[in-house]
Amino acid sequence: MRIVSIGGGPAGLFFAIVMKRVQPAASIVVHERNAPGDTFGWGVVFSDQTLGNIATADPDTFARIADEFVRWDAIDVNYRGRTIRAGGQGFAGIARKRLLAILHERALALGVDVRFNSAIEAVDVRGADVIVAADGANSATRRAHAPVFGTTLEGRRCRYMWLGCRQTFEAFTFAFERTDHGWFQIHAYQFDADTSTVIVECREETWRAAGLDLMSAADSIAYCERLFARYLGGHPLMSNAAHLASPWLSFVQVNNARWHHANIVLLGDAAHTAHFSIGSGTKLALEDAIGLAHALATHEQPAPAFAAYEAERRVEVLRLQNAARNSTEWFENVDRYASLEAEQFAYSLLSRSQRLSHENLRLRDAAYVHGMERWLAQRSGLDAPVPPMFLPFRLRDVELANRIVVSPMAMYRCVDGTPDDFYLVHLGARAQGGAGLVFTEMTCVAADARISPGCAGMYRDEHLAGWKRIVDFVHANTPAKIALQLGHAGPKGSTQVGWASPDEPLAEGNWPLIGPSAVAFGERNAVPREMTRADMDRVIKQFVRAAHMGITAGFDLLELHCAHGYLLSSFITPLTNKRTDDYGGSLANRLRFPLEVFRALRENWTSGKPMSVRISATDWVDDGVTPDDAVEIARAFAAAGADLIDVSAGQTSRRAKPVYGRMFQTPFSDKIRNELQIATMAVGNITDADQINGIIAAGRADLVALGRPHLADPYFTLHAAATLGYAAQPWPLSYLPGRDQYLRTVRRAAEAAEVVR
Ligand SMILES: Cc1cc2nc3c(=O)[nH]c(=O)nc-3n(C[C@H](O)[C@H](O)[C@H](O)COP(=O)(O)OP(=O)(O)OC[C@H]3O[C@@H](n4cnc5c(N)ncnc54)[C@H](O)[C@@H]3O)c2cc1C
Ligand SMILES: Cc1cc2nc3c(=O)[nH]c(=O)nc-3n(C[C@H](O)[C@H](O)[C@H](O)COP(=O)(O)O)c2cc1C
Repeated sequence: MRIVSIGGGPAGLFFAIVMKRVQPAASIVVHERNAPGDTFGWGVVFSDQTLGNIATADPDTFARIADEFVRWDAIDVNYRGRTIRAGGQGFAGIARKRLLAILHERALALGVDVRFNSAIEAVDVRGADVIVAADGANSATRRAHAPVFGTTLEGRRCRYMWLGCRQTFEAFTFAFERTDHGWFQIHAYQFDADTSTVIVECREETWRAAGLDLMSAADSIAYCERLFARYLGGHPLMSNAAHLASPWLSFVQVNNARWHHANIVLLGDAAHTAHFSIGSGTKLALEDAIGLAHALATHEQPAPAFAAYEAERRVEVLRLQNAARNSTEWFENVDRYASLEAEQFAYSLLSRSQRLSHENLRLRDAAYVHGMERWLAQRSGLDAPVPPMFLPFRLRDVELANRIVVSPMAMYRCVDGTPDDFYLVHLGARAQGGAGLVFTEMTCVAADARISPGCAGMYRDEHLAGWKRIVDFVHANTPAKIALQLGHAGPKGSTQVGWASPDEPLAEGNWPLIGPSAVAFGERNAVPREMTRADMDRVIKQFVRAAHMGITAGFDLLELHCAHGYLLSSFITPLTNKRTDDYGGSLANRLRFPLEVFRALRENWTSGKPMSVRISATDWVDDGVTPDDAVEIARAFAAAGADLIDVSAGQTSRRAKPVYGRMFQTPFSDKIRNELQIATMAVGNITDADQINGIIAAGRADLVALGRPHLADPYFTLHAAATLGYAAQPWPLSYLPGRDQYLRTVRRAAEAAEVVR
């Protein structure tokens, strides 16, 4: 097989090495446009795990790289005059120049034909069976076929300079400095005996406001030297980017719908980029190289080999790109976290990618996590540290025992809206299960406000009696508080129950719908009647009546459902609100009616009891509500007296393209909480105690709601407490023998896992 690699970076060279190892007869030519040693950039870092992959693919390369590694263990976060250190991080650094030199020598030793000063434009590659496009993020090979590869390029919001410095940092060092123009940060780490990488980064607008866009390279560097002088020990910052028009770059997120076309296959940065703040670009490039070489060795023809390579690598790349995106956004929004105290700022930074969990951090540095838990406990007035999910939380006069919430979930079991024994057992069991707060499902304020015929209501005396029985049970038998979620289905009303065809109209017996505009939720849904002012007044009265019933029933918290495309949400999103009066158009206008409802409720709801609002923080549609809009929506409700924003997302349009993943909606809660400094509740694919502890410790939310996990396990909180060894969690007295046996089972499982390890 004749293989031509365009680009002698980490991807192209390591691919040639691994290919030669698995198929010594292959003919491989690597064309590199630069001269040997003529590379831009300073050091690169690797995490421990990456090293294992390289070691298996080519022990020789690994041994030579490992010989030159500078290893370090700790991360220092310098912020507001404090340094917070977390250990056990296990990184290694090497000069990019040395890495390339080692790869080059190894490739030559294995018989690869490496040609420097050989730009591919000047070379004839027509005879090749396989053309490996390893020509980096700006790949000209990819650009020539961009429509076929389905290339998307997304420029990000920061500017950065990749510099070197003779200062030797004993830890991976992050430092943050505030200027009149905004925040600047450095990411610095040592990569050989006397040199470190120093990446200086700031928002684009900060960069412009500081005049750096007009400064020469030398003046830019001098500016950064002054700004970060206290970390540089008197050493100058050095640039090796003389070939660039400006040393300031912007990170570009590269993605491709297809990684191969005819005999061309994309590798490393040419196929995908991952922001440098998670230090994974080289790792991905090297692992791509391993994947492609193995695929070519196991398939006779290039096409199936390319397909196998792409299928194998895509998943891992996507995982890391998701983590990298969270990390990129963190550094783009330092200002958002600037109100956090140093301890929480550092924890938020360490866990920014949502990949490193609370227990991962504990495994790396138990003393650091213990210190963080102690700090969190002190702020909550506790004497001793507890797992963060067990910190109490107060909203107005209501004290919640912990941060776990049973998310509102429709059960579709009511007849004419009345919650019966099923609801008593369902909500009662979850309250006994230890969550600090249990929500009712969306409880509808009128018969025609229901989503389905099975939905719960709060508009008849029977409803009040049914709910009061449940609330009384929860208060009499558990420490949990119970919240009433009120809503009106609007354009998403008159649909089937959850286990039939949800969001689809009933086979028969449909009722007329109302909405902000005559826009149906879907092709088969009825077109709602555009609401008149009289309709609005009637709906407000229905909400207020339901709130009064809620007070009589004894609920502790009232939530207004303004999410998921139901009536109030359908006013907020421009996708369904097409009104031309004061209730449509701008976001302020679209919020007008939901705020009128909220204010009416706040005036009527008990002043000592809190109110929350559930919102959809994004429509996941290009022309819909954005996370920036969500901040404004939250701000408006907070100004109207909301104590908590319950941050959900989507379900407002059939055109939505949600990006699912672990804790996928939590970044929206993080954004709203820290940009507005208001209490939030995160929800959505949060499945375990470790995730909850991380969210609370990082200040991404104040409460964490779990829906489906509570359907599978009503005793989620009791089980989590036992697993975490949190003895202070109260269990129902009658269940204590069960608790003791459960604790023994957990202990034995932990001991068995220890033996296996
Ligand atoms: C500031 C910064 C810091 C980083 N830090 C880290 C880190 O700490 N850890 C980490 O893992 N990654 C890091 N990265 C990412 C890493 O540099 C890249 O992901 C990695 O280099 C990708 O390897 P590659 O071989 O795909 O591309 P490249 O390294 O870009 O190599 C492409 C090669 O192709 C050559 N070439 C281009 N066009 C042609 C042509 N027409 N003909 C011939 N040759 C051509 C180029 O000269 C180059 O040598 C960082 C990146 C940046 C910008
Ligand atoms: C069966 C079911 C019913 C739901 N009903 C409601 C509801 O009545 N009101 C609401 O705001 N969200 C409702 N949701 C959404 C959940 O509250 C929660 O936001 C969602 O399930 C994501 O959380 P999870 O990943 O923990 O399940 C429902 C979810 C499920 C699974």
